[in-house]
Amino acid sequence: MATVDDRTLPFAWYSDEEVLRRERTRIFARAWQYGGRAEQVAEPGSFLATDAGGVPILVVRDKAGELRAFINVCRHRGAVLTDGCGKRETIQCHYHAWTYGLDGSLRTAPRSDREPGFDKADWSLLPAKADTWGPFLFVNPDPDAPPLAEYLGDLPSILARDIDLDGIVFHSRVEFGASANWKVVVENFLECYHCPTAHPSFSDAVDVHPDRYRLEPHETFSSQFCEARGTGERGQFHLVYPNTGINVFPGPANLSIGPIVPHGPHRTERYLDYFFAPGLDEDWLREFFAFDDQVGKEDTTLVESVHRGMASGLLDHGRLLLASEPLLAAFQRWVEARLDAD
Ligand code: FES
Ligand SMILES: [Fe+2]
Repeated sequence: MATVDDRTLPFAWYSDEEVLRRERTRIFARAWQYGGRAEQVAEPGSFLATDAGGVPILVVRDKAGELRAFINVCRHRGAVLTDGCGKRETIQCHYHAWTYGLDGSLRTAPRSDREPGFDKADWSLLPAKADTWGPFLFVNPDPDAPPLAEYLGDLPSILARDIDLDGIVFHSRVEFGASANWKVVVENFLECYHCPTAHPSFSDAVDVHPDRYRLEPHETFSSQFCEARGTGERGQFHLVYPNTGINVFPGPANLSIGPIVPHGPHRTERYLDYFFAPGLDEDWLREFFAFDDQVGKEDTTLVESVHRGMASGLLDHGRLLLASEPLLAAFQRWVEARLDAD
């Protein structure tokens, strides 16, 4: 469905099972998405079970040191093959013990010798893709996807203006969610038009004036740049399409990154992996997390309200303010192009 530039997507697209089904096949099944930390699969023989927009993904570092990824679904009867992370010679399904090598090949399937015509070579794990960017691991269910570096384009050099990815270490993962469609959550992240009204503490800390809070759409990602009031220290917020958020607040080196994952049309689950410069003061960290949590709670209230309003069903669409919400317009066009594609 075509929309003029300042129209939002149809509100019905935010609670429709069929739209989510198309988003799964046309967007999430083909997209690079944050899947964990590169250090979790640094050693030969290590594996990590992760997820790409609802698709279970198994990432392994094989004996030769090559990073490989597979759909983490057993070829027998479809169990999610394994979870967690660690080091193994082989990956054994927890259901009937079909056992796969780190190259994805089926090595043993108990009792399969009693089956005429059973050829293990036909039942390898389906391939997917994994790649790293500094300390970050990205996954893509599509084995034919372009390389991650190509997809990220200028983003690594933009981020490098304000943070050195070699100078930060993993601190912790925080999980959270909201009763809202994943696009509502993404779109809330793509503008700071709501900051003066809804985020008093953020707006005290950061200059949210439209002339100084910069918005920059790119082909595969969207960027926002800000400065702290008083100090002028810089922050950056990025969305790598479709669903990976990256936050760098002004101040000592800090970064959080994580996916925004649909769990049905009415629910979104998220996590953020936090990285900091080593040795930061505990009090500073406590304050940082309290601030981040406060802003996050304010956003959860907003997106759940938007989702309820959209799902009421009486409004067809809304009106974007293109000077303040250009990143939403770009994201919505991106989504629409994929859902419309054959
Ligand atoms: S489903 Fe994996 S071995 Fe049966
Ligand atoms: Fe917000």
